[in-house]
Amino acid sequence: MSDQITPTYGSRYMTEPVPRNKIPENGMDPKAAYHLIHDELSTQGNPTMNLSSFVTTVMDEECDRLISENIGVNYIDTEVYRANLEIQNRCVAMLNDLYHAPDPDKCWGIETIGSSEALMLSLLTHKRVWREKREAEGKPFDKPNIVMGNDVHLAWNKGSIYFDIEQKLIPLKPDRYTITPEEVLELVDENTIMVVGVLGTSYTFEYDPIEEINDALVKLKNDKGLDIPLHVDGASGAFIAPFLNPELKWDFQLEQVRSINISGHKYGLVYPGIGWALWRDEADVPASLVTETNVLGFPERSFSLNFSRGGAMILAQYYNLIRLGRTGYTEIQNAMRENARYLAKGVEALGRFDLINDGTFTPCCCCKLKDESKWNGADLVAALAQHGWIIPAFTLPPDADSVTAMRMTIKETFSRDMADKLINDIRMAIEKLDATHTKPHHEVQDRGHHH
Ligand SMILES: Cc1ncc(COP(=O)(O)O)c(C=O)c1O
Repeated sequence: MSDQITPTYGSRYMTEPVPRNKIPENGMDPKAAYHLIHDELSTQGNPTMNLSSFVTTVMDEECDRLISENIGVNYIDTEVYRANLEIQNRCVAMLNDLYHAPDPDKCWGIETIGSSEALMLSLLTHKRVWREKREAEGKPFDKPNIVMGNDVHLAWNKGSIYFDIEQKLIPLKPDRYTITPEEVLELVDENTIMVVGVLGTSYTFEYDPIEEINDALVKLKNDKGLDIPLHVDGASGAFIAPFLNPELKWDFQLEQVRSINISGHKYGLVYPGIGWALWRDEADVPASLVTETNVLGFPERSFSLNFSRGGAMILAQYYNLIRLGRTGYTEIQNAMRENARYLAKGVEALGRFDLINDGTFTPCCCCKLKDESKWNGADLVAALAQHGWIIPAFTLPPDADSVTAMRMTIKETFSRDMADKLINDIRMAIEKLDATHTKPHHEVQDRGHHH
């Protein structure tokens, strides 16, 4: 590979080639810098055809303007950017209201960079509350554990490792990809700092039975005095369920649900870089975790993993909340789910797949092949990639690892028309694979690739 980058139009804009891995001695014309980077980026995948990610890629033009006007806002500098802070607080209040926080004056929440930071902060709070309680009771506090499905997002594994928390993982079943209250009860003990239920699992986008898990934990509290908090990882689902299935109980309506994480940049319909961490009660965030600094010239209290960060995405989240309102969110989420259902029906009609998620609750079509002897899910997604589609095929976590799932998450940018095109492309890819393959050519991504 050449150690210099020289575009063909270089002679128009540049006097020297640009070194690949060294800072150039001299700068260049802004137009040249723009073109150089812009052109390199144009070789990337097409976000509209990327069905692997839950993350938002387009917003209203007016919101784009708001973002670019405020791109230099530093979220932490609250003395300067007071209105930004006020808007953040309004978002927190709106979300806590959406999630039925019992006492609006007592609940707590903050903006984060995404669900990963949000759930790590919730891990820290529950660990600290548990530890302070154990310490006060004169009991050992050196072996905290967390109970969750082994299909939780990598961020949970990271957080548990980073903060020295034992992971008690519930295995999936070959034919069931969510956890049950019975399995939770088998694993919890006095060292369990929290149980995690997922509203929209990363693998199949199904909902864990949060209400049933809550009821089991309430019963445990009443029968044995063991009060274990339930955290809901609502990274994707917390912006879907309230609008599409308001009858589902999974939020602060439930007694044991003490904290929730949400990715604003998924079905909150905001660009990457925003999440929310919410606690039912400010007492769930121990004072001993909140630090204070005067370095910006005023007393700044903070509980977060970052200090400086952009504040524009807070404005973008607020923009969506007021621009769309409940009706707007409901209509958009519904259209996405209808498109997912349409895609799922089309995929099923091809006769080669069993559906895992047919869009019953979430905007997702997740399926597995009936027969993988001649070619597998990885061969199929490789064939579809030639048409520009980015679709993941992966084995599910144990004990469901005999299953290769293909998950297509549907976003606002995926139209009915695109569903027809995708179904047709799948049909053609199948015909080609049938004609050319006697055994699989590609290896399916297993969980080893995540760790
Ligand atoms: C269920 C779940 N939890 C947590 C995360 C991590 O969220 P983020 O990417 O916002 O950090 C994801 C991301 O896909 C997820 O699906």
